[in-house]
Amino acid sequence: MSSDYEYLTLEEILRKTSLLKYIEQNWQPAKKLGSEYKSLCPFHDDKNPSMSINDDKGVYFCYSCKAGGNLITFIKEYKNFSSEEALDEISNFFNLRIKKIKFQNDNNTDKKNMLLKLNSSVAELFHKFLLKKSESRIALDYLQSRGFNLKDIEENQIGFAPNSWDFLTSFVKNNKEKLICLEELGLIKQKEDSKKYFDFFRNRIIFPIKNRQGSILAFAGRTIDNSNPKYLNSKESVIFSKRKALYGIDKFNNFKGKKPKFIFIVEGYTDVLMMNKVGIYNVVASMGTSLTFEHTNEIKKFADKVILNFDSDDAGLEASFKSIEPLFDNKLDVYTLNLPLKQDPCEFIKESGKDEFLKLVKNSSSIIDYFIDYSKEQYLNKEKSINSIIEDFSDKISNVGDVFNKDLMINKFISAFGISKNELQNKMITKNEKDINNEDKNNKSLDALEMALKILLENKQLRDNDIINELKGLSKNLELELLDLISNNNSFEPSDIINIANNEVSSYITEIIFSNTQIDSNEKKKIKLLNDCLIKCKLDDYKEKRRRINMKLNQKENINESTEMELLKELKKIIEEEKKLKS
Ligand code: GTP
Ligand code: MN
Repeated sequence: MSSDYEYLTLEEILRKTSLLKYIEQNWQPAKKLGSEYKSLCPFHDDKNPSMSINDDKGVYFCYSCKAGGNLITFIKEYKNFSSEEALDEISNFFNLRIKKIKFQNDNNTDKKNMLLKLNSSVAELFHKFLLKKSESRIALDYLQSRGFNLKDIEENQIGFAPNSWDFLTSFVKNNKEKLICLEELGLIKQKEDSKKYFDFFRNRIIFPIKNRQGSILAFAGRTIDNSNPKYLNSKESVIFSKRKALYGIDKFNNFKGKKPKFIFIVEGYTDVLMMNKVGIYNVVASMGTSLTFEHTNEIKKFADKVILNFDSDDAGLEASFKSIEPLFDNKLDVYTLNLPLKQDPCEFIKESGKDEFLKLVKNSSSIIDYFIDYSKEQYLNKEKSINSIIEDFSDKISNVGDVFNKDLMINKFISAFGISKNELQNKMITKNEKDINNEDKNNKSLDALEMALKILLENKQLRDNDIINELKGLSKNLELELLDLISNNNSFEPSDIINIANNEVSSYITEIIFSNTQIDSNEKKKIKLLNDCLIKCKLDDYKEKRRRINMKLNQKENINESTEMELLKELKKIIEEEKKLKS
């Protein structure tokens, strides 16, 4: 043990510890399967083991909920620890002495607790002010006019920030430490010239934003005098990230262990409040931002289906589109509900009642129609390849039980993308066969770009800048993020890259590592494979470009003659380039 008694860096820790051992002793034993281990996944309601563990590489990945990472991320997620607490845990469990490492965006628990406590007293202060002070009359009246009574206000700790510049600063009586915390929470701001602090929320109704446990992470403040913006959020901090927070999630206790059939996703705070008021607790809203992978990942822990209920205007439609990807990524079944007369759930329930609302819920429709329009847009904007669109579509369509509907959707899809039914069916069959033949049916089969990523991830010595840059030009989103991480951290092993990647990229890295695509261990063959992948990516890219141009050319009514000429020229150029590459 004494030889272990030294200061270790993050990279050394991951080499000196065993992810498998930790999981087996803190969660449950894993079963050996080839060179890897399988265990039940602790991050979702897992019936059959879906989590793979590779102890040599120190990484895990769940095929079902896509949780993936290294020992540190495992402990953070499993025990709900900060990075620092996770390191303490590692040092105790493995008997190692670990260097104090400063994590970005991840301060210690004391600090977090202090901020949570401060938020809680601020919430109480605003709440008391709303209930007790005569200046709040107008806010109370407004809330009542929206259908919220005193009981609702109390249950949700709704408050009022008076029209004052120093309500909070005088509350903490110029206590320096508290002022700094209030500033960190975005509740007060500093004047640029005089450095004097002033209140952020003034003359606004205050809604506390809570986490699952009911601790207050942040606040939203709604204007009552039509000033802009209508809503303000206190700023992001070590305890508040808009990418993660879900308004209404603290009410999930009301399920009392019974899993809801679905979760409503609505746009506004008031929608959540009104639904809660009539006893609907399976509802959340984001902080006026699009849904993220983190949001949908959290939602998936509670249900397999969501009903989107965004406003039925253009902005609402846009929001539904943007939400599709993170929802699909977490394998959620997506339905939409459109309320009549452009009402939002808050207005609708206030006017027509809960029963009418629930009647409409029965008629909510699958998102697939939206999906087709949305994919088309993505395709034309070059955000996605036809193959991945077809793959997503077949995934989605496989959940549709009704044969008639299914046929209808397939027909819509093929006419939208100008492909033949055969082509689609062939792709769908190949995919199904792959799914069935794989021992692990969720195991991802890699495309050329992902194969290249796998080689680059697992072979530091092959990280050639020219190749990486060429691949970057052909990638987007996650793939691009990952390539950036690889090229900026040339000497990092995959588990080290996970330390600096966000959740979504970590999950992607581990998914690629655990894919059962075998790569020859011979160095020369690997180099050849990498180059072949690059060529394949380029060819795919040309093919896509051709298809896009043809789609545009087919929409003849929308283009004029000169555009048509341009497109044809472009097409010719692409075909020439393709020929060169193939020869
Ligand atoms: P009410 O008018 O109070 O009923 O609000 P609402 O919740 O119906 O608001 P709306 O439908 O206009 O917007 C839905 C959600 O978008 C809100 O709950 C906020 O989260 C967000 N939002 C709306 N306006 C703003 C704004 O001006 N700034 C920010 N940051 N968010 C906004
Ligand atoms: Mn609204």
